[in-house]
Amino acid sequence: MADAEGVSNRAGLIRPFIVMDVVARSQELEAQGHDIVHMEIGDPDFATPEVIVRAAEEAMSSGDTGYTQSLGLPDLREAICGHMQSAYGVKPDSGHIVVTQGTSPGMLLLFGSLLDPGDEVVMADPCYPAYPNYVSFLGGVPVPVRVRAEDGFRFRIGEVERAITPRTRALMLNSPSNPTGGVLGPADLEALAALAEKHGIWLASDEIYHGLQFEGRSHSVLEFTDRAFVLNGFSKAYAMTGWRLGYLIAPRQFVRPAEKIQQNFFLCANHFVQVAGAVALLRAQDDVARMRAAYDERRRFLVPALRAMGLEVAVEPLGAFYVFADAHAWGTDSVELAGRLLEEAGVAVAPGADFGPGGEGFLRLSYATSIDRLREGVVRLGRWAAERR
Ligand SMILES: Cc1ncc(COP(=O)(O)O)c(C=O)c1O
Repeated sequence: MADAEGVSNRAGLIRPFIVMDVVARSQELEAQGHDIVHMEIGDPDFATPEVIVRAAEEAMSSGDTGYTQSLGLPDLREAICGHMQSAYGVKPDSGHIVVTQGTSPGMLLLFGSLLDPGDEVVMADPCYPAYPNYVSFLGGVPVPVRVRAEDGFRFRIGEVERAITPRTRALMLNSPSNPTGGVLGPADLEALAALAEKHGIWLASDEIYHGLQFEGRSHSVLEFTDRAFVLNGFSKAYAMTGWRLGYLIAPRQFVRPAEKIQQNFFLCANHFVQVAGAVALLRAQDDVARMRAAYDERRRFLVPALRAMGLEVAVEPLGAFYVFADAHAWGTDSVELAGRLLEEAGVAVAPGADFGPGGEGFLRLSYATSIDRLREGVVRLGRWAAERR
């Protein structure tokens, strides 16, 4: 039954990203002539590496502008397999790969081919808000498990196990994590893989921040179990958010269902973007390393600066480009606090509440912005904090 205005109840299951309200308001303020430091969204400030742009230009000029197979170009699917081999030492069959228009549509393919109404998906709280939204939209039930700063925002295995019921179909993983910057190490992944095997559930691993881990290397879930789906995309590590390219690696029996969803809802990813994606994997690893080093420098600047002004960062973020800071000392309502920081200090940040009840009282500060602007943001936040004391 639709609501009073005729809008479906299903649409009502999707919660908006509050951070987009911060973006909209900051744009209004900028239109009025205010200078805003943007630390609210995870959109790299780097241009897409030259080698990738050139590949897309050439592909477009040479006519790679039509539909491709729904599963994706064979060359790109092979390049993804090669990348899995060189990065993790595991080589999935290219027949298990579905190329998507970003990680986000990959979530529709994954959950759409896995969930029946009432099926449960266990996930971290706080987590990337699209996970519970996708699951709810498809009639499933998101089951949050709290992760805490003192644990480096990693799961406590016993708590995950207690959340598993006969209706559980999957456990969602995201390492390095948005919003926390937390990383699951090999021991965590091994324990979670064992749990999945024991209870006959699937692991769904969003690996979009791989390549942006500052200590040690990222581990794919596929190093630990085949009872897993991998979601990944080019948006973050390759600075390609607007290109819309990603992929799903699915167990054999889910490939055809995912392909059917892809055919009907999207047909295929952009042809020339897929050509450029293969080049990204094969020839842009130095660029990824360059950008990672810059993010690391920013992280090393930002974390102590935030701590010095009274925001608690219990554990150094180890990957992605976010600091998830405990801001209880500044206010307990993170949406209100983010609003005040925008209006009064000219700094845009994401409220922790966007990422679930476990994020309330926190702010997520993105350092996908230049170090000069970060310095300016820190000065403004410091001044704001000093004035309200
Ligand atoms: C954890 C996570 N997954 C997926 C996405 C969406 O990525 P894409 O641009 O590939 O759709 C984001 C974007 O911020 C993200 O943080």
